[in-house]
Amino acid sequence: MKIAFFDTKSYDKSSFDRFGKENGVEFKYYETKLNEDTVELASGYDGVCVFVNDTVNANVIDRLCQLGIKVVALRCAGFNNVDMKYAHGKIHVVRVPAYSPYAVAEHTMALLLTSVRRIHKAYIRTRDFNFSLSGMTGFDLHGKTVGIVGTGKIGKVFMDICRGFGMRVLAYDKFPTPGLDNGDTVKYVSVDYLLANSDIISLHCPLTEDTYHLIDECALNKCKKGVIILNTSRGALVDAEALLSAIKSRKVGAACLDVYEEESDFFFEDFSGHIIEDDILARLISMPNVIVTSHQAFLTEEALMNIAETTVKNISDILTKEQSPNELCYRFGTTEDCKDGKCF
Ligand code: NAI
Repeated sequence: MKIAFFDTKSYDKSSFDRFGKENGVEFKYYETKLNEDTVELASGYDGVCVFVNDTVNANVIDRLCQLGIKVVALRCAGFNNVDMKYAHGKIHVVRVPAYSPYAVAEHTMALLLTSVRRIHKAYIRTRDFNFSLSGMTGFDLHGKTVGIVGTGKIGKVFMDICRGFGMRVLAYDKFPTPGLDNGDTVKYVSVDYLLANSDIISLHCPLTEDTYHLIDECALNKCKKGVIILNTSRGALVDAEALLSAIKSRKVGAACLDVYEEESDFFFEDFSGHIIEDDILARLISMPNVIVTSHQAFLTEEALMNIAETTVKNISDILTKEQSPNELCYRFGTTEDCKDGKCF
């Protein structure tokens, strides 16, 4: 089984080579992202393996099919970069539904603590032997209210971490988990109630038509003054221009972003010697109360091993049995995992 692997980074190879060798899957590693210009590189392979910023739109899907590609293996959980509606019935699409919710949830708390305790500033100051504390006053997380949008695998782990800090949790989910609301420290509420009553808002829902720009100007107007916005889910959940305005007007007290709507132009690459063309991203990064990481929340050793193991198994299942429990289906107007292996 031969797979063209797009958007390769140095940390991908060792885990994929290990599990590939054990399962008879051979990878050809390309540094370039998959898109309409690079799709020809998939010629001669059985499948393609892609990540969050590869483009799997209708044109790419058509060409992959013409090239005889049988499977698009996402080595991530989110699949907003795949036109699932168009792919349905044409090509198998598999994903890694869960690899380490702890990795993402712990990174979210790391960002929050960095922000509220000014660790990013302290690190730079003390390296310059500046031991002054002026401007470093933070606040206790204990007793604060965190609003969590999306109470799936990552949202629940983040909720547990927050409760460990003695925080109150307001939650919103389109499909609430029965039994999670204890009527005391965890309460399911409407989005509007969550926005109006949270000191910190953390996004852990997928990017869909429903959730696109969930945090826009209107939503930000409903928030408490000084709210902290955390987004480790998908960039387009937040209207970055509206966020920037709300930071400038002091409505938003701080923002911690591991994802950005236009991240595919920049994230994962070294632009340190370049002029950044995206004025909104550059302005956000210039703010003292904004922390941006480059979609790295998933990046732990445990997660990388789980991603490689599941992806190789997904590819092998599709190419040998034409079905996988981690196949994505677009049926009845919704996208879901294929539970019965009978999608096509
Ligand atoms: P999950 O599927 O376990 O949970 C998602 C939750 O969102 C579910 O409870 C679902 O009911 C809820 N939801 C769906 N539509 C909603 C809506 N319209 N409004 C509110 N809630 C809604 O997914 P998981 O594993 O917790 O991942 C969450 C997201 O985290 C992924 O979709 C992905 O975008 C992002 N992610 C980011 C990573 C990073 O490195 N920054 C790594 C992995 C995932």
